[in-house]
Amino acid sequence: MLALVAAQAKYRQRAGQISSKPIWVDIGGGTGWNIEQMQQQLDVPTFFHAVYLVDLSTSLCEVARERFRRLGWKNVHVICQDARMFRLSDYETGVEDDKAQFSIGRSAYDEDARETVGADVLTLSYSLSMIPEFHPAIDSVSNLLAPNGIIGVVDFYVQNQVEFQSRNYMGGAINRHCMWISRVFWRTWFELDRVNLDSARRDYMEYKFGTILSGNRRCRLFGFRIPYYIWIGCARDTSSSMQQLAALDAAVTESPFISALDVHAKSIGKPRRSSSLSERHSKAYESAVVNLAASLPLPAAYYQNNKTRIYYDETLQKHRQFNDEYIYAFTWEDSRVDSRLLKITSEDVILAITSAGDNILSYALERPKRIHAVDLNPSQNHLLELKVAAFRGLEYADMWKIFGEGKHENFHDLLLQRLSPHLSSQAFDYWLHVGPATFSPQGKGLYSTGGSRHALQLVQWLGKLLGIGKDLSQFAAAQTLAEQREIWTKRIRRVLLSRLLAYFVIGSERFLWKALGVPSEQRAMIEEDFKRMGESPDAATADQKASGDGKAGTVTATKSGQAIWNYGVETLDPVVANTLISEDNHYYLVCLLGKHPPPPPPSPPYRATNPPIPTGHYTPKCHPTYLAPKSHARLSTPSALDNLRIHTDELSEVFARMQPASLTIAVLMDSMDWFTPGGPEAPAQVRAVNRALKIGGRVLLRSAGLSPWYVGVFEECGFVSKRVAARVPKGVCTDRVNMYASTWICTKVEGLGPEV
Ligand SMILES: C[S@@+](CC[C@H](N)C(=O)[O-])C[C@H]1O[C@@H](n2cnc3c(N)ncnc32)[C@H](O)[C@@H]1O
Repeated sequence: MLALVAAQAKYRQRAGQISSKPIWVDIGGGTGWNIEQMQQQLDVPTFFHAVYLVDLSTSLCEVARERFRRLGWKNVHVICQDARMFRLSDYETGVEDDKAQFSIGRSAYDEDARETVGADVLTLSYSLSMIPEFHPAIDSVSNLLAPNGIIGVVDFYVQNQVEFQSRNYMGGAINRHCMWISRVFWRTWFELDRVNLDSARRDYMEYKFGTILSGNRRCRLFGFRIPYYIWIGCARDTSSSMQQLAALDAAVTESPFISALDVHAKSIGKPRRSSSLSERHSKAYESAVVNLAASLPLPAAYYQNNKTRIYYDETLQKHRQFNDEYIYAFTWEDSRVDSRLLKITSEDVILAITSAGDNILSYALERPKRIHAVDLNPSQNHLLELKVAAFRGLEYADMWKIFGEGKHENFHDLLLQRLSPHLSSQAFDYWLHVGPATFSPQGKGLYSTGGSRHALQLVQWLGKLLGIGKDLSQFAAAQTLAEQREIWTKRIRRVLLSRLLAYFVIGSERFLWKALGVPSEQRAMIEEDFKRMGESPDAATADQKASGDGKAGTVTATKSGQAIWNYGVETLDPVVANTLISEDNHYYLVCLLGKHPPPPPPSPPYRATNPPIPTGHYTPKCHPTYLAPKSHARLSTPSALDNLRIHTDELSEVFARMQPASLTIAVLMDSMDWFTPGGPEAPAQVRAVNRALKIGGRVLLRSAGLSPWYVGVFEECGFVSKRVAARVPKGVCTDRVNMYASTWICTKVEGLGPEV
């Protein structure tokens, strides 16, 4: 809690939001141990103008006084008083005498009793649960807080999910629910010590303040797990809430700011300009308006230091279905080709699927006007947020360890001290739970997590099972294309692409889904293309026919295995022939898993040397664009990523709420492959994209089919389409991934008229 509070205080001090010499009040500070511990985060005697320790217990106060006498910290004042009575103006110099006098006997929770001098930092460490009358204590604390001040609480708690499940303002809630036995046992146990774990204390805190960060932990003690929480909040009410909301809404939906001013004018009673544009609002805006009307705090997203992550309702099943796990730990689309195809300018407003966020960051390097990153899976967006926070808060060396090597010995501390001010509450909560294990040097690292780890595990497993581990190592370290091709053809291909494997392993639908994220609709495309290309004597025209309007499995099981085998061959062979994995193809390099960093490359002839160990991470030579030192220099400058908005929703939902004709580029990856041919989703999405794009705006998509059936839908809905790359004739390498059979750009040439 101290680390999080210190990180927020430093952030706000640098941003000029709080005093350059802040005031800290520690309520129920006991012996002052926490204040001494804060020295690990910042220099208490010089950072703070004054520190007030407020505690009821005279004996503990005496210990505290002795502590600060010993430390020689002159700016720390120990005040032996009930927290409900404490007023900063009674102690702070520079406050008018009459204010100090007047405040005596005045109710501390009177709204007008707000102090003219406020605490920039307020903390309650295991004291809230000890204060018998907690309502007036919390009211009094809320009067103490400076307008941009922050408050930190750490305390034991127990709670049942039925109490909080409909709340949308509490930030992350991973592990917040405690089992009944834990609730009964700990409540009774702590009562013996006059500590009250009543959940109303925490709830009232969250009601009185805005939530910045929130996390639920378990303290392990002699085999027991005691629930405790850490919470960082701020003043809940800002008199300009409506205007802030409207401004943010305008950025989310790309509406002109004029509509935001209209909303504000309405809120202060001025007649509103007639503007149909102001009718289209984000879900974030709508939920915030509901909260304001119900006198509840705004969702946590509104109190973050940056507005990168847009509010979403994390309790919805459509988000929960991913079980707090990302599928893609790395993005599997060639950013270099995207950049060549899209030629992004400063005028572009881009909407793209987040995936692991690597390509979003590549787009950001081109400095477009705005980027909207969209993913339905909250964890994919948490991963992008972590990368963005790393640019904002870390030096290159630490960023490289986390995302280049996939491991960092100090991730937990970096998360608390450097990344937390830049993360949304949900992303922080997520990384607090999974981050230390994900990045542990003892573990397998970031790239062995998420659903895509199955693909990496397969390589490792095959390496072991088929005895080609050494060959894979040498393959990953080959220094020339000739050397790489030779190892591939003579030693790996034969085994890796064996038909037997294709039939028994890769042909299974469940496996494909898990390992590569391939749904049955996409598989149907692969199967049909295979069938057509095989049947047609004229392969040149066969690839022009629509692929994928049948069902998966319409070819026999054996054929299906062959189709997948063929697809694999046509993916891998050209990659190996044309791109040097060790130097220029991080997409495949990262899949070659190993426990250790790679040793220096072998000197030829490669057979004579000790085999190098393959990598499950990137190397300084071979990595995604965003991990280059010069990318860090570019994206770590203040406001470099302020043009980014991260949406957690379906693409169609985000498109539908965008102002018409506001986007210039939409990158859909292979997402349309997932729609059922002939179903309503594809036309609905294409129409929504048409409406959101400007005339001349482009859609970039990739497909497992050579001529995906839905290109026709684009053409019916105001687009002209162009296949900009395809794996025909056999052997063509479309990009460094070469995973998709075709790449398309559909350009909007006409609108669809007003919507019904
Ligand atoms: C468990 S101790 C925590 C001490 C310290 N903050 C820490 O984390 O080690 C709780 C403290 O709250 C103080 N306390 C309880 N009720 C209080 C009140 N109404 N006003 C001020 N302090 C109070 C107690 O005297 C005690 O020192």
